[in-house]
Amino acid sequence: EKGGYATFMEKEIHDQPHAVADTLLGRTDESGRLVLDEMNISEEQLKAVDRIIVVACGTAAYAGMVAKYAIEHWTRIPVEVALAHEFRYCDPIVSERTLVVSISQSGETMDTLMAVKHARDIGAMTISICNTHGSTIPRESDAVLYTHAGPEIAVASTKAFLAQITCCYVLGLYLAQLRGGSYADDAQSVMKELGQVPEKIETLLGQMDRVKEIAGFMADSRSVLFLGRHVGYPVALEGALKLKELAYIHAEGFAAGELKHGPIALIEPGQPVFVVVPSPTSEHGLHGKVVSNIQEIRARGARTLVIAEEGDEAVEPFADEVIRVPATAPLLAPLLTVVPLQVFALWLSTAKGLDVDQPRNLAKSVTVE
Ligand code: M6R
Repeated sequence: EKGGYATFMEKEIHDQPHAVADTLLGRTDESGRLVLDEMNISEEQLKAVDRIIVVACGTAAYAGMVAKYAIEHWTRIPVEVALAHEFRYCDPIVSERTLVVSISQSGETMDTLMAVKHARDIGAMTISICNTHGSTIPRESDAVLYTHAGPEIAVASTKAFLAQITCCYVLGLYLAQLRGGSYADDAQSVMKELGQVPEKIETLLGQMDRVKEIAGFMADSRSVLFLGRHVGYPVALEGALKLKELAYIHAEGFAAGELKHGPIALIEPGQPVFVVVPSPTSEHGLHGKVVSNIQEIRARGARTLVIAEEGDEAVEPFADEVIRVPATAPLLAPLLTVVPLQVFALWLSTAKGLDVDQPRNLAKSVTVE
C-alpha cells in the first residue's frame, strides 16, 4: 500500500505529478476553455463576485495564500485569506457578492467547517475545495471543486497541498474567463503551462539525492529559517511547517522583504537559511531583491540553501547549496519550489529516527475546535 516506499509520506511526495495532473483532468473542453461542471453557483452570481475570502487552516491556508496572488492577478477581484478559526470571531464583513472559498483536504476540519457555516449564515456564497468525496464541508457548501490527489494518509500534507494550489489556479482562471477582460485571453495559455507542470515535478523528484544528503547532515540543527517572496512566501511558511511537524525543529518562514525589519538579527554564523528565489522572469525585479537578501545573510555567516530556477546563475556566488527546479511561469512556481522542502523535512525526520507518518501530538484531521 506504500507502493514500495518506506513511508506514506515518501509515497505521497512521489504521487504529486499525478495529484496535479488528475486535478487538471476534465476541466477544459477541446478548445481549451475551462469548464467546471460541479459548480452549482450560477454564472451570473460568479460574474457578480466582488470579493473573495479564503478560509482554511495549516497547509491549506498556505495554498490559500498562493491563491491570493494568482486570483487577484488574473481576475482583479480582491482576495483575503483568513485562518478559519479566526474568521468567525473577527465579525467578518460579507455581502451576497462575497465568495468564501474553503480549502480542506479532509473536509472534516471543525474550524473550517464552522467558518463555512458562519459565512453562509451571514449571506456569502461558499465554494469548497476538498479532497474527500462525501465529507462534511462540501455538503455544507453551495459548490465544490474536488482536488483529485487520492487518499492522503501521512499526517503531514504534501500531495493535497499541490492539488489545492492547482484547484485554486483553475478557479481563478475560470473566474477570469467568465468575467472577460485582459486576463481571460491568457487563461488557456496558463492552463497549457500548468499542464506541463506534472512532468516537471517528475523530473525534479529524480534530482533530490543531494537534498536527502543535506538533510542527513542536519539532524542536529536547532533552528532553520525559510525566506521567500511573492508566491515564494507561502512556500517558505510551508517549508517551516513541514520541518516543525516532522522533525520537531524550530523553524520559521519569513517574507524576504521583512528581513531588514527584524529577523535579520537572528542570523549568526552557521544559521541554516533556505531561500526560495523567484524566477528571473518575475515582475518588479523581485529576483534581484531576493539575491541581495541572500548576499546580506551570507555576509553575516548564514549557511544559504538556495532554491532557484534552472539556469539562474546569479545565485551561485552567494549560495552554499543550490537546489535547482525546472522553470515555469512565476505564479505557478510553488508547485515546484515546495517539493525540495517537503523532501528535506522527510529525510531530516528519518535521520532523527522519528515517525514520519505519525508525528507526535498531531492528528490527520482536526475535528475539534
Ligand atoms: O484537512 P485539512 O486540509 O482541513 O487540514 C488542515 C490542516 O490541519 C492541515 O493542513 C495541517 O496543517 C497538516 N498537518 C499540515 O501538514
